[in-house]
Amino acid sequence: MTEKMLADKIALVTGASRGIGAAAARLFAREGATVVLAARTESALKELAEDIPGASYVVTDLGDVASIDNAVATVVERHGRLDIAFNNGAVSVPPHPIADFPEDDFDLIMRVNLKGVFYAVSAEVKAMTEGGAIVNNSSVGSLIGNPALPAYGAAKRAVNSITESAAVTYGPTGIRVNAIAPGLTLTDMAEDWDRFDPGVLDRIVAGTPLGRGAAPEEIAEAAAWLLSDRASYVTGVVLPVTGGTAV
Ligand SMILES: NC(=O)c1ccc[n+]([C@@H]2O[C@H](COP(=O)([O-])OP(=O)(O)OC[C@H]3O[C@@H](n4cnc5c(N)ncnc54)[C@H](OP(=O)(O)O)[C@@H]3O)[C@@H](O)[C@H]2O)c1
Repeated sequence: MTEKMLADKIALVTGASRGIGAAAARLFAREGATVVLAARTESALKELAEDIPGASYVVTDLGDVASIDNAVATVVERHGRLDIAFNNGAVSVPPHPIADFPEDDFDLIMRVNLKGVFYAVSAEVKAMTEGGAIVNNSSVGSLIGNPALPAYGAAKRAVNSITESAAVTYGPTGIRVNAIAPGLTLTDMAEDWDRFDPGVLDRIVAGTPLGRGAAPEEIAEAAAWLLSDRASYVTGVVLPVTGGTAV
């Protein structure tokens, strides 16, 4: 029988209360990992943790560096180490072109989606004293122009840069750092966008060679492989998971 892909790994998943993060937490556990779930909504985390063997949660705000540090420290306190981390949590805001973009929305995106990932990687590499693997959840929007979501695209492109810098800096200590760049994935975030711009999801699907949006589980699979030892010589990449959408 094939060994489970993440056997014996201690894992942190941010943005684990729903969507891609919740699917990843379930998958990582099925693949043998002990998972700590992080997000803000305690009720959702509690319900999910009760449903995943061996899982626990830590309420975390990715907009607060002290809270991120606490999440990583909690994993180490509970399990003695951190092996793998999926930095998945992020926010979206209503679509606006650059000329009309509200400053508060810009600041929120930068605080959570950029600074949150930067300081999560910072805390994680310090905790990974025996090596490890990190996957940051970027977006197809990091690789193309984003007329409607320009701040989101800018923050996600910065996530790619953080990924590449961390891979180079921490490769010599046995830590691999990669990113995935999902295309349209059928979660609350995508539904929110469609509410503000009705029909946008149908338009994206029409331009997707596989002819559909991804299920969250399909994105989680790519993260699981990059986090596993089966990807042991892969670091510093941003892997498009886009159903064939050219980037
Ligand atoms: N859906 C797509 O089409 C798509 C495409 C490309 C990339 N992505 C990326 O995939 C990742 C997951 O997105 P999703 O589609 O699964 O979105 P989602 O369903 O809206 O889930 C977002 C997750 O992030 C958490 N989160 C948001 N703000 C947070 C904060 N300040 N602190 C801690 N956690 C926070 C949310 O939990 P709480 O609200 O409980 O805190 C939730 O668990 C994101 O990085 C997103 O940018 C999504």
